[in-house]
Amino acid sequence: MTLDYQFPKDFWWGSAASATQTEGSTNGISGATIWDRWYKEAPNRFFEGVGPDQTSDFYHRYKEDITNMKAIGHNSFRLSISWARLIPGGKGDVNDDAVRFYNEVIDELLNQGIEPFVNLYHFDMPIELQDIGGWENREVIEAYADYAKIAFDLFGDRVKTWFTFNEPIVPVEGGYLYDFHYPNVVDARRAIQVAYNTMIAHARAVKLYHEAQDGKIGIVLNLTPSYPRSQNPADLKAAHICDLFFNRSFLDPAVLGEYPDDLIELLEEHGQLPETKVDDKDLLKNNIIDILGVNYYQPRRVKAKEHLPNPYAPFMPDWFFDNYEMPGRKMNVYRGWEIYEKGIYDIMINLKENYGNIDSFISENGMGVQNEERFIKDGRIEDDYRIDFIKEHLKWLHKAAEEGCNVKGYHLWTFMDNWSWMNAYKNRYGFFSVDLETGERTAKKSAEWIAEVSKQNGFND
Ligand code: NOJ
Repeated sequence: MTLDYQFPKDFWWGSAASATQTEGSTNGISGATIWDRWYKEAPNRFFEGVGPDQTSDFYHRYKEDITNMKAIGHNSFRLSISWARLIPGGKGDVNDDAVRFYNEVIDELLNQGIEPFVNLYHFDMPIELQDIGGWENREVIEAYADYAKIAFDLFGDRVKTWFTFNEPIVPVEGGYLYDFHYPNVVDARRAIQVAYNTMIAHARAVKLYHEAQDGKIGIVLNLTPSYPRSQNPADLKAAHICDLFFNRSFLDPAVLGEYPDDLIELLEEHGQLPETKVDDKDLLKNNIIDILGVNYYQPRRVKAKEHLPNPYAPFMPDWFFDNYEMPGRKMNVYRGWEIYEKGIYDIMINLKENYGNIDSFISENGMGVQNEERFIKDGRIEDDYRIDFIKEHLKWLHKAAEEGCNVKGYHLWTFMDNWSWMNAYKNRYGFFSVDLETGERTAKKSAEWIAEVSKQNGFND
């Protein structure tokens, strides 16, 4: 019997998580990151004052978590390696305890028939490297390349799907433009340098991987389709420029091996080109990715600026456009993210038409809900809203696959409720809820639903 929405054979069903958000246990067995520093300096910037030391303790409970993953039909799972755990200080000696831990996690996943996808950098700069300038300093690119090589050598025999960075625009926006990540700088010139250096680091890792390993390597980008308010040329131009900054600054070098000409021209015109080295161009050109992870949460709604920017004010990307809110359905998160399922399809069609139909998958999609306890019935969270959310996104993904897009899978953010940066535990995203006092995990209704979908490789409407 065929289902209404039957997905391609060997479709990846699973979820994603990151080290800082889930592992915990940094004390003494891991180096510190920018998150430990920021929390120490400004605990009040974190929701309810909850910091990175209060995670869901994957470090100790990974066996139980992986058993739960298996139970809900995961055939793949993305974790990140903590750079500061593997190499405390970011450079130098490898931490044996970290090697043991990641080996055990990888082996346990494989034992349970779950393919491990490993990402190297998920917002978690070792503090010592931030202290020498973080991504602004080329020395950090070298340290990252060493870290990548060490990780490939240690785990590449079993891990065959790698990612260099998760959402590289986020540390740029958060750390250097809009003040929601350490080091809380607001300076577009520095942001542009960070974005550029990140992609050089990325290309270095891709090169090292292809030289020595036989699996696939890619990057995870949070692509935000930029929809213009109207077909008026000024709105179209605004949306195009927004797309250049927030999507194509990463997508083009990763997949096509070069930056868009009009982005370079725009930066040049405003005296904002980053510092580069002669070999960078070839490095990018010759080291494109094998697989793209797409994190999709919300689109950007863009309109032309109503007032010309003050030319004496510091340069910012939003000199060229304004974002506006679309009335309609919102996710229950603090900035009220818009829910627009078709965005997932538009992204896939764009990849097919303009990016060589590169192999891709949804590496994150998910719904963050506040005060989710209010939906508890008979001891578990009845998250029908999450089931609908996933279902509607999957329908558009299915349509993209039917139309020939090379879409290989769907991962939810995230497996279990976890600590989410400044928002700490404000928004819950998991298939499993976590009791923050006892650490106990309880499957939500969506967990039962996804188990069925994964087993059948699809669903009926
Ligand atoms: C994407 C990020 O990769 C993840 O770290 C974060 O928690 C979720 N978005 C939710 O905001």
